[in-house]
Amino acid sequence: MDEKGFGDWLSQYTDAGICMEAFRSQKQFFRVNTLKTSVAAFQAATKLKCKQTPYYDAAFELDEELQIGKTWEYFLGLIHPQSLPSILVSLALAPGPHDVVLDAASAPGSKFSHMAMLMQNRGVLVGNDLKEEKISALYSTINRLNVLNCITTMKDAARLGWKERFTRILLDAPCTALGSGPAAYLRWNPDHSKKISYTQKRLIFSAFDALKPGGELVYSTCTYAKEENEDVVADLLRNVPRAEQAEITLDVPHDKGQGEYGEKCYRIYPQHLASEGFFMAKIRKKAGGKEEPDSAEKAGGGG
Ligand SMILES: C[S@@+](CC[C@H](N)C(=O)[O-])C[C@H]1O[C@@H](n2cnc3c(N)ncnc32)[C@H](O)[C@@H]1O
Repeated sequence: MDEKGFGDWLSQYTDAGICMEAFRSQKQFFRVNTLKTSVAAFQAATKLKCKQTPYYDAAFELDEELQIGKTWEYFLGLIHPQSLPSILVSLALAPGPHDVVLDAASAPGSKFSHMAMLMQNRGVLVGNDLKEEKISALYSTINRLNVLNCITTMKDAARLGWKERFTRILLDAPCTALGSGPAAYLRWNPDHSKKISYTQKRLIFSAFDALKPGGELVYSTCTYAKEENEDVVADLLRNVPRAEQAEITLDVPHDKGQGEYGEKCYRIYPQHLASEGFFMAKIRKKAGGKEEPDSAEKAGGGG
């Protein structure tokens, strides 16, 4: 789709002109890896021109034109380039040292390594992805950033077959990535979102089955289409009685989501944080009650 067509489509969600301009002038962000250093030690030692964001002490905005991946800080695993909304996703799930966590679509491991940091390299962190080359990319992140509390698996997350094992689950789903910019929307049309929505619904039902009662799941994408965002979340909430929506309590600029379950969803547009576009929603599995048959069998039932 060309820029004009995309702008027209996007204006159903936000001011498209402001959004696209904000995307074009977005900043570079990185996260300090506290598995290898502390924020204070990094600040004392680094020569990078950067400033701490007001939203999270380990998130920094770069104030100069350079490739973060070519810096010493990157090679030493002291920092990881990551957009600000992507950093916020792991904060929304907020895993701690006693959690058993699944990252169902984890490669190349930006949010995965951030979760290890929040868990202080304790608890158990399982990183899953579909393909061997993706797992290789995940390994290099694990090694560079010194993630120790992890196991990796290579499974189709739509068919995990795991029942109530994890206290927290991140499903950062494959999506049309419209929030990541022109390279995505130039190859996209609205049918792509409808098609991938079916897969995303299968993924969220399968991930929800793997969640322990009382546990929480964050569903995120870097795209704008309602079919890939609120509709996926709504399909689970309508069809699985033990799924309830939970509050995200991050104090960051955002828009609410769309439709019946939109109120508690976060839509972060480029104009909010001078970074990528992102969507996130949080779901809890109600504690107690009778065990239900596999939710995964109901996936996509709600349209
Ligand atoms: C948005 S990316 C994940 C990015 C990652 N969470 C991060 O922060 O670095 C989506 C990932 O989903 C994986 N994927 C796609 N289909 C999948 C499936 N059926 N099961 C598991 N992973 C899948 C892709 O290989 C890709 O790595």
